[in-house]
Amino acid sequence: MHPKEKPDVNKVKFGSVFTDHMFKMNYTVNKGWHDPKIIPYQPVTLDPAAMIFHYGQTVFEGLKAYRTEDDQILLFRPDQNFQRLNRSSERLSIPHVDEEEVLYYLKQLIALEKEWVPKGEGTSLYIRPFIIATENNLSVHPSACYTFMIILSPVAAYYPEGINPVRIYVEENFTRAVKGGTGTAKTAGNYSAAYNAQNEATKQGFSQVLWLDGVEKKYIEEVGSMNVFFKINGEIVTPALNGSILEGITRKSMIELLKSWDMPVVEKRLSMDELLEAYNQGLLEEAFGTGTAAVISPIGELIWRDQKMKINGGETGNVSKRLYDTLTGIQTGKKADSFNWTIQV
Ligand code: COI
Repeated sequence: MHPKEKPDVNKVKFGSVFTDHMFKMNYTVNKGWHDPKIIPYQPVTLDPAAMIFHYGQTVFEGLKAYRTEDDQILLFRPDQNFQRLNRSSERLSIPHVDEEEVLYYLKQLIALEKEWVPKGEGTSLYIRPFIIATENNLSVHPSACYTFMIILSPVAAYYPEGINPVRIYVEENFTRAVKGGTGTAKTAGNYSAAYNAQNEATKQGFSQVLWLDGVEKKYIEEVGSMNVFFKINGEIVTPALNGSILEGITRKSMIELLKSWDMPVVEKRLSMDELLEAYNQGLLEEAFGTGTAAVISPIGELIWRDQKMKINGGETGNVSKRLYDTLTGIQTGKKADSFNWTIQV
């Protein structure tokens, strides 16, 4: 096999180019997870009755490997991703993987593909571990067999706006997730369930939507496919994890950073009414989304019903900027990693 040509990541669409190899292992009831191997990147052959096609039993993760200035390769908190993968799997009745074993194979895979980790501001190798149900059966029950794979994609910024503020509106029609549903799990259906709203937002010239709770349509949950933060009167507020919000690892890292800077940060239920009130009093200072793919996406304008909130004059705020610089600094080895978040491959 000839290695593929490496692209200029700044010219390719996010997640559209893949490296030369992938990781794969299978699960059966008798053998458990078995036959782990790194193989050339290749299509997967499945029976049309494979349960993944019918009932959506699948989970995934997203993390990144970064190239430092002196050509070390760093992974950012991969233990957190594999812990969350197992929590997602629990929700979807998928068997756990051995977190240390999959991390070991991830490191092997990245070491083999290290030439694929791009260099340059905002670039990285996006890592997509995922599990699919592979039993061939149409009756509705958890699959008896699964395949776990890891594929790798060199990427630049997720949103064309980069760290420039986006315009969003509050979604009042569609719901992303509800408590007791699958919102905290990283599973395919949560993302495809958001497409209609995203399409409408795009059509109207907005970047994303702000998601409210599915029951009362009152409380703020997420923005696009990211967690959301606000700076209100000097305090950083993010919606408390409530059983429908994804437990973002970037979210968690931002909270830990803010605490280390002695900045007031609270996780609490936050309603649109409260947010608008803060805005009207001139107290809404910043708003931003956080996630692995984009790191930070500041919100410059937020529309709710007939109210238009222009935040921080439509500019990236100081807290957003400081969090972005610090987190990406740690991830790329430019700043001291006093939290021991990164591991070297
Ligand atoms: C993220 O990393 O922020 C996401 O959730 C987007 C990803 C599914 C591409």
